[in-house]
Amino acid sequence: MREKGYVIDTCDVRRGKKKFAGYVLRNEPIIRKQKKEIDDLMEDDMVEIMKYGRGAPKGKYKRLLINGRCIMSNTPDEIKDFSRFVSRAKGSILINGLGLGVILKALLSKADITDITVVEISEDVIELVGPTYLSDRRVSIINADAFEFKPPKGKRYNAVWHDIWNYITSDNLPEMSRLHRKYGRIADYQESWCRDRCKQKKYHNDI
Ligand SMILES: C[S@@+](CC[C@H](N)C(=O)[O-])C[C@H]1O[C@@H](n2cnc3c(N)ncnc32)[C@H](O)[C@@H]1O
Repeated sequence: MREKGYVIDTCDVRRGKKKFAGYVLRNEPIIRKQKKEIDDLMEDDMVEIMKYGRGAPKGKYKRLLINGRCIMSNTPDEIKDFSRFVSRAKGSILINGLGLGVILKALLSKADITDITVVEISEDVIELVGPTYLSDRRVSIINADAFEFKPPKGKRYNAVWHDIWNYITSDNLPEMSRLHRKYGRIADYQESWCRDRCKQKKYHNDI
């Protein structure tokens, strides 16, 4: 089913203000007790913030919201999540999940990328975000479900990035495995957003 109510806004992260950390990011919310501790650390060391959860240093960030809930932002944490993939990527790329197009923007800054196909399930997201990127002739955006998408016959991708989830949770692991099986045959290299952290969460849940 198509989700309605997508909006892009700018979130101003300031110390001690309500719009902070967990509120900005797609992720498990930071609990209140921790939030106070993080507020106190805010100006000292970004690394400390990371110990407590996915934070955002002071600044203005773009967010993609669905019915008021953030599903993507361009905070440093989000950029860190895909930086290894982007530095390895070259040639022909497939991205499952357009979102705000943050990884797309990073990939387009590389001259050795020849073409990028983005598979996105929501027409609303494509309408909202697509026009920003479609002026680059290397980009094609396809309205399809990543689990159903059929690439052109004989097509191979040098790298595939899967990012269709809103939270880091071990519940994503079965879907990640399905996508890796489906695309493994036609990809030289593939990664799913925060797969290692999802595995860590499973490990901690299991012991
Ligand atoms: C967190 S966002 C992706 C963020 C993106 N990587 C970026 O850099 O901005 C997840 C996106 O995946 C899309 N999505 C969810 N399920 C999908 C599916 N089965 N197939 C394709 N896209 C899907 C959502 O509509 C949403 O746009």
